[in-house]
Amino acid sequence: MTSLMKAAVYRQYGPADVVTIQNWPKPVPGPNDVLIRMRACTVSSADWRIRSCSMPCGFGVAGRLAFGITAPRQPILGSELAGDVVEIGAAVRNVAVGDAVVAFSGAKLGAHAEYRCMRADAVIVRKPPALSYETATALAFGGTTALDFFRRGALRAGERILINGASGAVGSAMVQLAAQAGAEVTAVCSGANAEAMQQLGAAHVVDYTRVDFAGAGNRYDVIADTVGNSPYSRVRQVLTSHGRLLLVLATLPEMLRAPWVNITSRHRLVAGPAAERVDDLRTLVDMAVDGRFTPLIDSCFTFDKIAAAHARVDSGRKRGSVVVTDIC
Ligand SMILES: NC(=O)c1ccc[n+]([C@@H]2O[C@H](COP(=O)([O-])OP(=O)(O)OC[C@H]3O[C@@H](n4cnc5c(N)ncnc54)[C@H](OP(=O)(O)O)[C@@H]3O)[C@@H](O)[C@H]2O)c1
Repeated sequence: MTSLMKAAVYRQYGPADVVTIQNWPKPVPGPNDVLIRMRACTVSSADWRIRSCSMPCGFGVAGRLAFGITAPRQPILGSELAGDVVEIGAAVRNVAVGDAVVAFSGAKLGAHAEYRCMRADAVIVRKPPALSYETATALAFGGTTALDFFRRGALRAGERILINGASGAVGSAMVQLAAQAGAEVTAVCSGANAEAMQQLGAAHVVDYTRVDFAGAGNRYDVIADTVGNSPYSRVRQVLTSHGRLLLVLATLPEMLRAPWVNITSRHRLVAGPAAERVDDLRTLVDMAVDGRFTPLIDSCFTFDKIAAAHARVDSGRKRGSVVVTDIC
């Protein structure tokens, strides 16, 4: 007989309340798999995007093809998770039953449930006891995105970087990781978040409700846009001669423009999905243990209130990550 677990399921695209807790078949690990009992997960901006089918301009059709044309193909959202290994397949050697782990299922999702089965060679790292499950689960989404874009944009110590949307999950990770890398960080956020950004390592803060950073006369070696309102045409004048524009949130026209800009100017546009690498998650775990990276947590919800967690993410106002606990 199939065992059941509780899962947060959505059967149609729509607002936060399309997600409901239901009984769902508990996954059974194959020889190369690890079964994780969930202790904490997050609701991310990716969950909002996929659940509501709100794709960046030009990606509507691609989004439907990827996630389901008329209804979601993967009815369980969630990509960041922390929990305990409760079963492993016969061929698994890198983790053992009883290990606490942090993992990132990325575009495969499926973390909003009591159990998540993953391949042992996926993005899974042991969670040191010094890290709480709540902190561990919030490491991956913003942190791996920041590391990947900084690598592709070749951010170097001593450079000036401006981060637009600095108070979000990706932006707040970027502020910390850029400061750790020795860059001089300008955070663009609303006034209410200015102090928090300074505490994370921003040397300068621009309140976007009062000042247009693109018209303020300062120039930057790197501009990272997580908001989607800083196309090349808006920011080219404030990039230094070899400046890079990291379009974490890019429209299709902007992505198509990137190769042309990269060939015809000294500027470089970096766009596209961030890589999901186990080494990056390991780096973030190590940095979190010794205090060099602390994911910003907006709020915590219990699993039975996960629709409210979705609603908080939908507001577009969250500061860092929305964490979900008390899952099992
Ligand atoms: N390319 C990739 O692989 C990749 C990976 C991850 C995420 N993403 C994309 O990156 C985007 C950001 O993700 P996220 O999780 O960081 O978002 P998020 O946490 O939902 O962002 C919310 C934050 O954005 C701030 N914000 C809203 N409007 C702003 C504006 N005009 N200027 C500056 N800040 C503003 C809000 O601050 P206030 O309340 O103060 O306005 C809030 O703190 C999403 O669209 C996501 O889809 C792409």
